[in-house]
Amino acid sequence: MTERLKLVDAVIKYGDTPAINGVSLIARSGEMIFITGSNGSGKSTLTKGIAGLLPLSSGTLERTPKMSYVPQYEDADRDFPASAGEIVLTGTQRPGKLFTTRSDREAALSAMSALGIDGLSGKEIRTLSGGQLRRVFLARAVCGKPELLLLDEPCAGLDAHSHEVLFGVLRGLLSEGCAVVMVTHDISDIDGIPEARIIRISHGRIAGNE
Ligand SMILES: Nc1ncnc2c1ncn2[C@@H]1O[C@H](COP(=O)(O)OP(=O)(O)O)[C@@H](O)[C@H]1O
Ligand SMILES: [Mg+2]
Repeated sequence: MTERLKLVDAVIKYGDTPAINGVSLIARSGEMIFITGSNGSGKSTLTKGIAGLLPLSSGTLERTPKMSYVPQYEDADRDFPASAGEIVLTGTQRPGKLFTTRSDREAALSAMSALGIDGLSGKEIRTLSGGQLRRVFLARAVCGKPELLLLDEPCAGLDAHSHEVLFGVLRGLLSEGCAVVMVTHDISDIDGIPEARIIRISHGRIAGNE
């Protein structure tokens, strides 16, 4: 199986304080890794480091450039005048690509429909509920056909049905060879995922590997 992510001995600091301290992690094509641990243990810091939003103080990071990341708290400017469909469509864009194509629009629509939000396409994002906006960002993340998908507590604010729908979409991506790294408190989500592992983070280190 192809490696989509290889993190070796990563240290990530805020100022002089390490929040991630010597973490190594490999995610392969078709594999799902659940990251769990108590509040403040370093889960979000780890995903931001993998996404390239925080630098490593030491260690190495190799990953596919075809990565999508959905942060825990989306600091979206809700007043930005964009519709849900326009936001999702940006997920198909890559550096150096100038225009959206018909197949980009089809991918955006199909991701919205898979997540049950195709009816929201024309709605301004400032009119959406928290759970609806979360699904817009999830659709944005999956419609670009990522090879590595990073999700930081994506189920917060999702009802049971949306949760099921999300896992259906994730199983589809996994079967197409995407690697998924998901921060979650609910490790029962592992049921029904064939190639899955749980990694427990405690005080910035890996405390358990199941
Ligand atoms: N921007 C920041 N500046 C300074 N410290 C931070 C910042 N973000 C997080 N931390 C600290 O780093 C540690 C890990 O935080 P975080 O990665 O958000 O944990 P988790 O996602 O597991 O709840 C915590 O002690 C937190 O207070
Ligand atoms: Mg967090």
